[in-house]
Amino acid sequence: MKVRKAVIPAAGLGTRMLPATKTVPKEMLPLVDKPVIQYVVEEAAAAGIEDILIVTNRAKSAMDDYFDYHPELEERLLRSGKEQEAATIRRCADLCNIFYVRQKETKGLGHAVWRARNFVGKEPFAVLLGDDVMKSKTPVLAQLISASEKYGCSCVGTQQVEDSQISKYSSLKLSPLDGRIYTVHDMNEKPGPGEKFSNFAILGRYVLTSSIFDILERTPPGHGGEIQLTDALKELCRKERMVAVEFEGRRYDTGNLKGFLEATIDFALENEESGPWLRQFILDKAAELAYNCRS
Ligand code: UTP
Repeated sequence: MKVRKAVIPAAGLGTRMLPATKTVPKEMLPLVDKPVIQYVVEEAAAAGIEDILIVTNRAKSAMDDYFDYHPELEERLLRSGKEQEAATIRRCADLCNIFYVRQKETKGLGHAVWRARNFVGKEPFAVLLGDDVMKSKTPVLAQLISASEKYGCSCVGTQQVEDSQISKYSSLKLSPLDGRIYTVHDMNEKPGPGEKFSNFAILGRYVLTSSIFDILERTPPGHGGEIQLTDALKELCRKERMVAVEFEGRRYDTGNLKGFLEATIDFALENEESGPWLRQFILDKAAELAYNCRS
């Protein structure tokens, strides 16, 4: 089960980040010095993916432009002796082979993945949500690919979330298989009170067999009136073996303000240029807040 292709659904409306996302795609918001989507593409490339399909919509053409060459800008940078900057912007366009397809109507994540059926064909493929950014030693997608290859089946990325948070995710019914790998028996999308299987939530990364497309083709709209990927995965895990990997690393949902700001601070602290002064800024700020609390 060699996984060579990845799909990045990025056609959501980004309503949780308005008004910033009224005209700028949420995937193009900068995390320190790179747009969110670049972190996702870099993770896929680091996991050995060769071809990526980004599912976009009519308001998201900034992404196509970003992963293209910009000869005029490169020439200007080279002429002013900025070789490093010119190489940096060229590197964005050479990370992977990137293709695009439009989701003409915002009908849900399941529908966005279904738009990739011609690109994928019969191979197993990865799905990385375009606003979920991971920070880990081993790329999270590589952890999933390795489990998927070992067991020859689909695989979802999971971590345990707080009781109060599980209603925002898909809850998994699992049994232990091997270390951080579990067998998936069932799942439900955004469980209400008393409906969750466990606190193991699906978090933004998947490796799927192409059987998902036949299922998606006939999956009716579910939660929120959208075609839900989870509803199709629920059927897939009954038909075929599916495993879940409790991945090592931290996941940030940059599609909401809290996740976006946490990711910004964590990545900025790690960044060579911003790390030292940001650390000092945070320490000064903390001292100031503590002083204000006392007085
Ligand atoms: P989200 O629910 O996180 O994204 O979807 P959203 O719809 O943009 O969020 P709001 O409006 O702030 O609530 C999860 C992923 O599925 C993609 C999104 O782009 C995101 O990567 N998606 C969602 C699609 O590609 N198409 C859709 O119709 C819905």
